[in-house]
Amino acid sequence: MTPRLAKAARMLAAASLLLAACHDDPGEEPVFPADYAASYVEVRDCRGSGDHDLNNIRILADKAALAPYQDRSAPFPVGAVVIKEEYDFGDMSCSGPIKQWTVMQRLPTGSAPTMLDWSWQRVDDQREVLERDPPRCIGCHTGCGVAPDGYEGTCAVP
Ligand code: HEC
Repeated sequence: MTPRLAKAARMLAAASLLLAACHDDPGEEPVFPADYAASYVEVRDCRGSGDHDLNNIRILADKAALAPYQDRSAPFPVGAVVIKEEYDFGDMSCSGPIKQWTVMQRLPTGSAPTMLDWSWQRVDDQREVLERDPPRCIGCHTGCGVAPDGYEGTCAVP
């Protein structure tokens, strides 16, 4: 192998290592488990959402998010998760297949002020993370995530 070719080969190997590292990045996994239905609790039942693409939606909270979401007095602990299941426009009972999830996970207070101290995901029906922290989510929740309707970045009156 010529030195130049050897260098190219080394660069290629390094690049594929990088790619592999990205692919294994745990940050790209959905923050909620596949079997969340067994432990998450519904905090807002099936209804249309004018703000989330007119889909019908249900909102569920994990154990950590449940009391803060419902009572709106304690802060959300770090790691708390709130998810929104989104169903087809015509699925008025949220009984058909889920089209996608939109998800919020609490970060330490003050750690990400431009993201309202939450991380944001949009996840498809194959549990593929389609978007992470898109400005559109944060922009809209900045407006609706405050009293009287909102609480700490969440927007629905439970
Ligand atoms: C146009 C404004 C708007 C945009 C854009 C938006 N949201 Fe929301 N979101 C709302 C409103 C209003 C609610 C509560 C009422 C409802 O469910 O429709 C909500 C509810 C939620 C909830 C349930 C918890 C709660 O009460 O807030 C989650 C989770 C959520 N959104 C995540 C996201 C994510 C992730 C994105 C981006 C992919 C996003 N939202 C984009 C307005 C918006």
